[in-house]
Amino acid sequence: MSFSFDDAASPHLKRLPSYRHGRPFEAGGRGSAAKEWAALDHNENPLGPSPLAVKAIRCLLQGIHRYPDCHGHDLRERLAERFGVTPAHIALGNGSSELIDLCARCFLGPGAEAIVGDPAFAFYGRAIQAVGSQRVSVPLNALRHDLPAMAQQITARTRVVFIGNPNNPTGTCVPPHEIAAFIEALPDGVIIVFDEAYREYMPEELQPDTVRYVKEARPVIILRSFSKIYGLSGLRIGYAIASPECVALLDKARQPFNVNLLAGAAALVALDDVTHLEGSRQLNEAGKQYLYQAFSELGLRYVPTAANFILVDVERDGEQAVRALADRRVAVCPLTRYGLPTSLRVTIGTPRDNERFIAALREVLATR
Ligand SMILES: Cc1ncc(COP(=O)(O)O)c(C=O)c1O
Repeated sequence: MSFSFDDAASPHLKRLPSYRHGRPFEAGGRGSAAKEWAALDHNENPLGPSPLAVKAIRCLLQGIHRYPDCHGHDLRERLAERFGVTPAHIALGNGSSELIDLCARCFLGPGAEAIVGDPAFAFYGRAIQAVGSQRVSVPLNALRHDLPAMAQQITARTRVVFIGNPNNPTGTCVPPHEIAAFIEALPDGVIIVFDEAYREYMPEELQPDTVRYVKEARPVIILRSFSKIYGLSGLRIGYAIASPECVALLDKARQPFNVNLLAGAAALVALDDVTHLEGSRQLNEAGKQYLYQAFSELGLRYVPTAANFILVDVERDGEQAVRALADRRVAVCPLTRYGLPTSLRVTIGTPRDNERFIAALREVLATR
C-alpha cells in the first residue's frame, strides 16, 4: 500500500508554492564566512541590536529552562502605556509574521476574500491562501498602494484588506489623508490590517495616526515589528494594536508561549533605547543619501523610500544581477516574483556595506 502525504495535505496548502527562503551565505552556518558578506537582502538593522537588549538577554541566559510569561505582561503593559491604550489592546507575536498569520486564521477562511496590493509583502498572500481564502491583488499606482482602487474591489465576501505602510518591496507609503478617506468610506464587515513593520523609519509627517483609529473602535489592526529598526530580527517578536475584542481572538488562535523569554526581555528594553533608535535612523538617512547619489551617477532609476531599503531598476535581468553580486559577496533581493524582473531591493547598510554594494554593482553593470 502506498501513502502520499501530498494526497493527505490540505488542498489550500497544496496550491501554495514552496517558500523561497535561504540566503547565499547561510549554507555551512553563520561562521566567519557569513561575516564577509554585505547582507543587504533582508532589511535588517545594520547597526545591530540595542546593546541594552543584548545585556538583558545575557542576564536571563541561566533562566531559559523556564517557560516565558505566556501573557507577555510587562511588554504589553509598556506598549500600552506608550500608545495610550490598555494592555488588552496589545497582542504579541513570534515576529509580526505570526500576527499576519493569526489575522488570516481568525478572520479568513474558505469563501472569504482578502485584498492586497501588488506588489506587496509576499507573506500576506501565503497566509490568505493557506486558510483557503481568495487573494484579490490590486496593482499599485506609481508603485504606491492605490487605496481608491482597493476600495472598489471590496465585495460582500471581503473580510480583510492588508496595507503595508511603508510597503515592501517598494518602500513607498500612503499619505495620512488618503488613509483617513479610505477608512471613512469603509463598508461594514471589513477589517484593515496596517502592517507598519518599517514605521519607525518614516518621516514623522508621513506617519499616520493609526492608533487613533483603534481608539475610535474602527475595524483596524496595526502590526509592528521588533525586527527592523529595533534590530531583533533573530529573536522573532512583533506586536499588534487592536480592540480588546480582536486581541482576545488573536490570543485564542496563538500558541500559549509564542513569544520566547529572550525576545520579550530584549524588546522591553530596546523599545526605550533612544540612543540606539536615533543612531539607527541617522545611519539609515546617511546611507539613503549615499545610495541615491550613487544610483543617479550610475543612471539607474530608484524609488525614494520611507523605509530602510530601496528598490532600484538595474535595467537587466535582476536574477542574474543578484547572482553576479553574490559572486562578489553582496546579498540583495531579486524582485522577479514580485513582477519586477529588472529591479532589486537593497537594504540600506553600513557605509562600508553600501560602498561594497555600489562597487560590485558598478562591476556587474559594466559586464553584459
Ligand atoms: C512589510 C513587512 N511586514 C512584516 C514583515 C515581517 O517581519 P517580522 O515577522 O520579522 O516581524 C516584514 C519582513 O520583512 C515586512 O517586510
